[in-house]
Amino acid sequence: MVQLIKSKLRLKIDFKPDEEYVDCINDLISHEVTRSMEYYKHHRDVSCLEHSLYVSYLSYIICKKLGLDYRSAARGGLLHDFYLYDWHIGKPYKGLHGFIHPDVALQNAGKYFSLNSIERDIIKKHMWPLTLRPPKYKESFVVLMVDKYCALMEIIKLVRREKIKKLKENFGI
Ligand SMILES: [Fe+2]
Ligand SMILES: [Fe+2]
Repeated sequence: MVQLIKSKLRLKIDFKPDEEYVDCINDLISHEVTRSMEYYKHHRDVSCLEHSLYVSYLSYIICKKLGLDYRSAARGGLLHDFYLYDWHIGKPYKGLHGFIHPDVALQNAGKYFSLNSIERDIIKKHMWPLTLRPPKYKESFVVLMVDKYCALMEIIKLVRREKIKKLKENFGI
């Protein structure tokens, strides 16, 4: 799907982000709690921070190209999995991880950062249609599709680690 969007939009993605992207998420990614996501494994050897940055950056590019609120997409994308535990080991909450982590992420994100309604919707609805309530904004739909694409790329090991590494380097990680 993202490949289709990429080809339709003729996107050539350079994993050296522009200054605008850095400005969109710099306050979030500089925070020590966001950085702690580096210690939680997400898919295979990809950390939760790496996955979130990957989702954030692709969502930013696609939303920018589509004339949507790319800043909220970048910020919501970065915080969409801000649940702060390693789901492979266990979780401090009752319920299945797939169903509960969007609400946990939203609760955590709201504790540390000020969120607008699009960012809140992105975080809360990113597992749709697993979680029943559909997204309210186009940006949320972009992020949830990008999330599924990135997760798949990570699981089947098609993600190019050097691309994510290049992205992280821009933030001194
Ligand atoms: Fe998630
Ligand atoms: Fe995710």
